[in-house]
Amino acid sequence: MAGIVFTEKIMQDFHHNRARALLQNAEELFTKQDVDTAVTAMADNLNARYNHPEAEAFPLVLGVMGGAVVFTGNLLPQLTFPLEFDYIHVSRYGDEDKGGEVVWKVVPRSNVAGRTVIVLDDILDEGETLAHVKQRLLDMGAAEVILAVFADKAIGKTKPVNADIVGLTIPNRFVVGFGMDAYGYWRNLPGLWAIRPEELQQT
Ligand code: IMP
Ligand code: MG
Repeated sequence: MAGIVFTEKIMQDFHHNRARALLQNAEELFTKQDVDTAVTAMADNLNARYNHPEAEAFPLVLGVMGGAVVFTGNLLPQLTFPLEFDYIHVSRYGDEDKGGEVVWKVVPRSNVAGRTVIVLDDILDEGETLAHVKQRLLDMGAAEVILAVFADKAIGKTKPVNADIVGLTIPNRFVVGFGMDAYGYWRNLPGLWAIRPEELQQT
């Protein structure tokens, strides 16, 4: 028992120190103010599309867990039209979510059929994840799929899918904050911070 407690303490110290070190060498690319402004602009865009008394749409808003949790929580209270909220959970298996297979943890429910589905995600990187999500929703009978991504990474390559609504276009760097993580750290930051590539390699 004492051994387990001791090991747990070592693990917590390790993660605490590693998370702090990661941030120490990071660079703030977008402040909380920049992030808030971008989210409000996205809400304005969605409200302009769907907040009409004569528009009968009752969109299904799907947050992609876990990265979109902060974005979703900030955006939803700024939407002014009737909607239904649900979530899906999908991630890419592999190093830092890059290059791996798309893995479903919570699949979309049958309520997508015939609906306008607004997908909220944290970041469009290579685009494999959202291309896969969009195709699955269309296969399940969604009438229309709108991809709203908080950050679109300028990777200098064509992506298999484009976002319909983008909050911030960001440089081709690995970022943490506003729901996005490196090794599970710093989803809780209110701004966006770029991690140095050297930091990502030392696992
Ligand atoms: P894609 O399939 O390459 O577009 O991968 C998108 C997913 O990878 C996102 O939903 C994130 O979970 C993760 N991801 C990609 N780039 C970053 C980043 O810079 N920071 C944190 N997560 C990222
Ligand atoms: Mg994600």
